[in-house]
Amino acid sequence: MTRNKFLTIISATVFLLATPLLAMAAEAVPDGAKVYDQACAKCHTSAFGAFFSGAPKTGKQQTWDRLLQQAGSVDALIANANQGIGKMPAKGGANDLSDEDVAAAVHYMLSKSGH
Ligand code: HEC
Repeated sequence: MTRNKFLTIISATVFLLATPLLAMAAEAVPDGAKVYDQACAKCHTSAFGAFFSGAPKTGKQQTWDRLLQQAGSVDALIANANQGIGKMPAKGGANDLSDEDVAAAVHYMLSKSGH
């Protein structure tokens, strides 16, 4: 076996072993951006969604300043998103999400809105 071929096999093996570990790590730490894109953007990003659902738009700092003040804390905002509030169903209707997934998505929304 040539040295190059040996290195190729070794790196392929390392890659194959690392992939499930990366997948597990991704599951353990919820990815706010990913959750947001899949479960929240349809109401909170598009002008269309925001108009029809009445959802506060992500990115509008003044809006989120006000909501944060009304709720009292980031944790209270997260609790509202998990339990549902007004016309927003609990977890935005994505019942397969864990509380931690929703929390990560709220943090992501706030980070996009100047917080
Ligand atoms: C079906 C549309 C819809 C989806 C999907 C949706 N939301 Fe909402 N969201 C709303 C509406 C409408 C409101 C405003 C509720 C009100 O105050 O009447 C809202 C409000 C919020 C608020 C502010 C809560 C407060 O205390 O005022 C947060 C935080 C929030 N959503 C997070 C999320 C997250 C995170 C997701 C995805 C997991 C999500 N939303 C998905 C419609 C949606």
